[in-house]
Amino acid sequence: MVKNGEDSGAYTLRVEGLSRVFGTKVAVDGVSFSAKEGEIFGVVGPNGAGKTTTVRMLTTLLPPTSGVAWIMGFNIVTEPSLARRYIGYVPQAVSVDGYLTGYENLMIFAKLSGVPRKCRKERIDEILQFLGLQDAAHQLVRYYSGGMVRRLEIGQALLTRPNLLFLDEPTVGLDPVARRSVWDMLKGIRTGQSLSILITTHYMEEAESLCDRVGIMNQGKLVTVGSPEELKRATGRTDATLEDAFRFFTQESYDEGGSFRELRRTRRFARRLG
Ligand SMILES: Nc1ncnc2c1ncn2[C@@H]1O[C@H](COP(=O)(O)OP(=O)(O)OP(=O)(O)O)[C@@H](O)[C@H]1O
Ligand SMILES: [Mg+2]
Repeated sequence: MVKNGEDSGAYTLRVEGLSRVFGTKVAVDGVSFSAKEGEIFGVVGPNGAGKTTTVRMLTTLLPPTSGVAWIMGFNIVTEPSLARRYIGYVPQAVSVDGYLTGYENLMIFAKLSGVPRKCRKERIDEILQFLGLQDAAHQLVRYYSGGMVRRLEIGQALLTRPNLLFLDEPTVGLDPVARRSVWDMLKGIRTGQSLSILITTHYMEEAESLCDRVGIMNQGKLVTVGSPEELKRATGRTDATLEDAFRFFTQESYDEGGSFRELRRTRRFARRLG
């Protein structure tokens, strides 16, 4: 239920002037946007743009230096425990234990996150089926492929039946086939549901394939927000890609060299799971 009041509106998430400063570094600089019920909203930007810092503030893990956001009408700064009830979060780093089975990971998370005892088994079975992981449910996660691990992490975040799911760089380090399996799963989740999803990514094709609306983030600022089509059209070119739109709005190149190579190293499932 959305809390009534002038700040709630029809949005699952509203963000106003959110900023975070670390020492002299302005990591997030006055970010404002909203996400509607059932919408997949993408925050797109290169290394160091401020995506993870934004997500950490919105998930109440990091206090903002200034600004505010409301989740289902609850203020993340003054009512963080209420706001938290409505969110699921899949962090950039690996969030499951490789030395437990998929089923055990889900059961432990269900217990820790307060899923009532009588619903746990049913919800876990439902999620395993949805993830296509029934056959692997009782294998150790360290033997899962990267795509399976990622799907399990997303399933874990859905156990509490959130209204808003945060996914920070969900497909970094995955091969194209595994990436597509995660996209298909995310498209499946939203079918017929009121769940909103906020996804951060530096893959333009991911934003284009998944997101209803995209915010382009660069150097801490949200430069523009629109549907992928609107952003591409704004460039004035009929054959423009989302990458062209990024360049158009930021006046910067968005090549896959340099810092992107570094970013790919940040998530190597197999190695990190043992
Ligand atoms: N705890 C911290 N202390 C100091 N600086 C930080 C801290 N966390 C983030 N930063 C800096 O803030 C900026 C934004 O970082 P952030 O991790 O939010 O970017 P990002 O868009 O998620 O990047 P990536 O694509 O690499 O995940 C970077 O310059 C980073 O070095
Ligand atoms: Mg990040």
